[in-house]
Amino acid sequence: MTQPATPLPDRPPTVPALSETYLQISPNILEIFPRFRPPVDLYLHDEAVGRVGRIHRAGARLGTEAQARVAGHALAGRLFLLREDYLVYAEHLSRKLGLVLVEDGLNHREVAEIFFLAFRDRVARFMDQPKRAQLDRLRGDIAILAEYLWADPCRVEFLTGSLHKDHDPAVHAVNTLFVGLGLFVMLSLGRQDGSGGLDRPVLANVALGLALHDLGMTNVPRFVTDKERYLVRRDRDSIERHIEAGLRMLDRLKVNDPVVRQCLEQHHERLDGSGYPRGLRGEAVSLPGRLCAVADSFCAMIGRRPYRDARVVAEAATTLVHDSRRYDKTLAGLLAVLVSRGVPACRKPGEAGEDSGV
Ligand SMILES: [Fe+2]
Ligand SMILES: [Fe+2]
Repeated sequence: MTQPATPLPDRPPTVPALSETYLQISPNILEIFPRFRPPVDLYLHDEAVGRVGRIHRAGARLGTEAQARVAGHALAGRLFLLREDYLVYAEHLSRKLGLVLVEDGLNHREVAEIFFLAFRDRVARFMDQPKRAQLDRLRGDIAILAEYLWADPCRVEFLTGSLHKDHDPAVHAVNTLFVGLGLFVMLSLGRQDGSGGLDRPVLANVALGLALHDLGMTNVPRFVTDKERYLVRRDRDSIERHIEAGLRMLDRLKVNDPVVRQCLEQHHERLDGSGYPRGLRGEAVSLPGRLCAVADSFCAMIGRRPYRDARVVAEAATTLVHDSRRYDKTLAGLLAVLVSRGVPACRKPGEAGEDSGV
């Protein structure tokens, strides 16, 4: 059974009329800002006169008394920031991701963007320092993402609507994570055996595999990955070794879950045996391996590269649908539906699918 939806309200609960322009700052949110220098302009809603006025300029110093006053305003639900300053706020919130599950002033688009920023940062840090402590932090954030989707799997559409095109390994990892989760949700909701709904532990492992699929690329020199064209054999070997390097890193970190390992090991395998590292064919490529291959290839196409512009999403999905010798036909088909209409199981009968905004 699909879990009942517990949607986040689209407006702050106490002062709905302000929600278009302002975002309410709860005491929890206030705590994530540097206490002496809140990084955004702060606004106070004065109920008596029905007006909103600025009480703090971004980055200015707040004395101890002023801090106490500001905290009191937050507690009373009268403290706001401009929605247009939302990115600064999101950057701070992404460092304490658990708050997105309890903050009710945020709409889903904002939550998706906060997840994006959080994972981009976590993955980049982990790739920079592939150590246990960074991995544990990444796992912690994945548990929060799994909780968010488990409460309502249709929320995945907000994630797949928040992809970025920048040429950056961490951005590619997060795009692949979001798209792969979209496919995982579609597969889970589409099961006909009555077990529809998400398996949270599997979801968390698929997510970890997707986020880390290119972990071994940290061993490949950037000048090789950025090469415009004419890769020589040595460059290709160096790139192909990212699989082996990634698996060695998983060994060192004692990550033994098969779903995570299959995603890392098989995301460049192709069903006709033309992939690497082992040239596996057909059924020998696991479901997580196929899913990561589709998500990874799609995200590689829609990202900008130094030598070409980003591909249009619908075209990129169609390319994979037409390449059924190499890519799983069902998953590529689901991807095409995801980018054009969203998750069908999330549409009410008769409701037209929207462009998912991917
Ligand atoms: Fe790869
Ligand atoms: Fe990749």
